[in-house]
Amino acid sequence: MAFPTETVYGLGADALNPRAIAKIFKIKKRPTFDPLIVHIAEMEWLHKLTRQVDERTLTLIKKFWPGPLTLVLLKSSLVPDIVTAGLDTVAVRMPAHPVARKFIKLSQTPIAAPSANLFGHLSPTTVAHVEKQLGKKIDLILDAGKCPVGVESTVLSLVGGKPVLLRPGGLPLEEIEKVIGKVVRQSKTKTIQSPGQLQSHYSPRTPMKLFKSLNQIPLNNNVGVLLFKRPVLKIKARTVEILSEKGDLTEAAANLFLALHRLDESGVKIIYAECIPAVGLGSAIMDRLERASSKSAT
Ligand code: TXA
Ligand code: MG
Repeated sequence: MAFPTETVYGLGADALNPRAIAKIFKIKKRPTFDPLIVHIAEMEWLHKLTRQVDERTLTLIKKFWPGPLTLVLLKSSLVPDIVTAGLDTVAVRMPAHPVARKFIKLSQTPIAAPSANLFGHLSPTTVAHVEKQLGKKIDLILDAGKCPVGVESTVLSLVGGKPVLLRPGGLPLEEIEKVIGKVVRQSKTKTIQSPGQLQSHYSPRTPMKLFKSLNQIPLNNNVGVLLFKRPVLKIKARTVEILSEKGDLTEAAANLFLALHRLDESGVKIIYAECIPAVGLGSAIMDRLERASSKSAT
């Protein structure tokens, strides 16, 4: 069933039951080479699911769990191969959302959950988003309103010598580096270590382009515009979405997918999205915007 987390809604199933996991891949139309995150509510599960809980891992957990940080660690034999797409590693996260925690605890098993959207599409931050994409195919959606963080968790690999950022997300990289020092950023051109990081991900159906300054884009009744903060002048476009009136990155992240869903439904021919300062949560927002616009890139 679908359930809320502080980042986005997830589509959850018993992580230890391969048949249940197979259903997730089928419902999402997700390729089976793309592994899932396993969600836990109690620390003892971390030890059962992995075979590598070293000092550095514990330091991060102490500081950031529960919360929007997913850790990639060496997996134990308890984790079915279908969850990890045959990899020797497993991604684990302890969400902070009280409804997610209660749901996982009551399930008495870890819950594997991707975001509750069709593969490659926009992630859901409300029940309406889940219903639109998956409503007919799933039994139950737990409704807790809008997800407070609004972008997916930060995915960090702790498997090699140096920690590697596999996906920027709800926990800013700067925060992580304050605790464990320099983190290697996965280069966009290098071979993909996190199979979910395909270039065209998180995409609206409407073509999308990024811009830096408003005078770079043609404004008319066919276009939708996504802005970081309120512009000085009024803008002539069919739909204008403002992520945060005052230009606050936390608020912008929380509104990102809501705004993209609305723009996608507004019937515009093209969406122009303003570039955002790539610091703190801005890095996760820019990552999503770049992927959302990569199909339309010329
Ligand atoms: O905030 C989130 O992380 C949400 C909520 C529901 O928890 N979940 C989510 O799951 O975004 P999903 O499946 O949409 O994205 C998981 C990402 C993918 O990019 C996947 O490739 C990567 O994590 N991943 C999972 N297991 C991995 C592993 N063993 N090694 C490397 N990357 C992994
Ligand atoms: Mg996803």
